[in-house]
Amino acid sequence: MKFFIDTANIEQIKSAAEMGVLDGVTTNPSLAAKETAPYRELLEEICRIVPGPVSAEVLATDYDGMMKEAGELAKIADNIVIKIPTILEGLKAIKSLSSDGIKTNATLVFQPSQALLVAKAGATFVSPFIGRLDDISQSGMELIEQIVTIYNNYTFATEVLVASVRHPMHVVEAALIGADVITMPYNVIAKLIKHPLTDIGLEKFISDYKKAKQNA
Ligand code: G3P
Repeated sequence: MKFFIDTANIEQIKSAAEMGVLDGVTTNPSLAAKETAPYRELLEEICRIVPGPVSAEVLATDYDGMMKEAGELAKIADNIVIKIPTILEGLKAIKSLSSDGIKTNATLVFQPSQALLVAKAGATFVSPFIGRLDDISQSGMELIEQIVTIYNNYTFATEVLVASVRHPMHVVEAALIGADVITMPYNVIAKLIKHPLTDIGLEKFISDYKKAKQNA
């Protein structure tokens, strides 16, 4: 399973990269809006830090506008992936971009039919937003199961990129289902390693050893 970080914050990206388990980055306009530097500058820096796929989202909602923005974003670096909203105009853009050899990430996916369409159009990644479904009492993880089944049924090459992740159990459940990629906020990546019994056990190992040596 590939791990992406879902942020445009350079410090968080550097820190996650240092952990040695980071495969890529996803950004979106809301995440970019939290930072002071312009989106393009952030993307340039992110691509220098992380060699894996870096998703950069278009703001246009019409085919021509998306294609124009995608062309500009794709020039930033070879590892840029163009994030396109899953609407009719976006589907056309995904088809054209994938035919041109440009990698795409179909975003804002909330139902299996959308995932089926973007795979047929040649999307590199599909991004189902599981946390936002959970927020409205629909099962985000059930959507992941359905998409994985559909893609396996027809051996689609599109990778399932689990997005809108809120906590470590989302990561474990997505891994059990066999999702290809998960993108997480920094705080979720940091929580994956944590267990109170690990900390208590470590403290006891060290204090037992020190006590024994002091009394020796
Ligand atoms: O990258 C998009 C997605 O992960 C957004 O998550 O937390 O805004 O629902 P969230």
